[in-house]
Amino acid sequence: LDKNDYDGKTVLVTAGPTVEPIDPVRYITNRSSGKMGFEIAKAVKSRGGRAILVTGPTNLEDPIDIETIHVNTACEMYDAVMKLKDNIDIFIGAAAVADYRPERYELNKIKKSDDNIELKLIRNPDILYELGKNKGNIILVGFAAETENLIESAKEKINKKNLDLIVANDVSMEGAGFSGDTNIVNIIDKDLNIKEYPLMSKTDVAHTILDEIKKYFNL
Ligand code: C5P
Repeated sequence: LDKNDYDGKTVLVTAGPTVEPIDPVRYITNRSSGKMGFEIAKAVKSRGGRAILVTGPTNLEDPIDIETIHVNTACEMYDAVMKLKDNIDIFIGAAAVADYRPERYELNKIKKSDDNIELKLIRNPDILYELGKNKGNIILVGFAAETENLIESAKEKINKKNLDLIVANDVSMEGAGFSGDTNIVNIIDKDLNIKEYPLMSKTDVAHTILDEIKKYFNL
């Protein structure tokens, strides 16, 4: 492996969940440890590139010598990415961004009563989709975590979000997905070629993704 194959490349990686507050004591979120995104950022750095990590709340330590920006909500993650997007070569969206947020944030804790209540949710911006609309020369990589119809929905996302690659994982499989240190992925490119990989550490998955991205360098 050429140790410096990412020399001169700036890679922006989103990681972790976003957290959408309801009131001062309650929130909605997605399951995500942040490990996959952090491993990608570390892999970029180890291969001579510059990684920038935008992460929601996780239990992980900031990786040494990697610019790490902490956000809570999807809107904050969106703003952070939009500020940086003109100065990057590659964007990798490994974050589990909440698709919806409560329409309003209650300044005071919502009181419990014996009645049911309704929580109105509104759409959050889709960071990858927005980048895909105007992507210029950026190489765009997304993730698709699904529990059914994995390949079909991943292919749809490639088209809808104008991606170059998508990393699809069936999060219902043992050893794949959320909190563990391993993952089982398929990587699909924009020509819809599918590569299936065995169970691997998230570190190895990170390097495999970086290997795959290289076919789009200097096109
Ligand atoms: O459409 P879906 O949410 O399944 O797509 C997942 C991919 O899109 C992931 O790469 C995720 O980081 C990204 N995404 C995003 N902004 C959102 C929702 C998803 O960047 N609001």
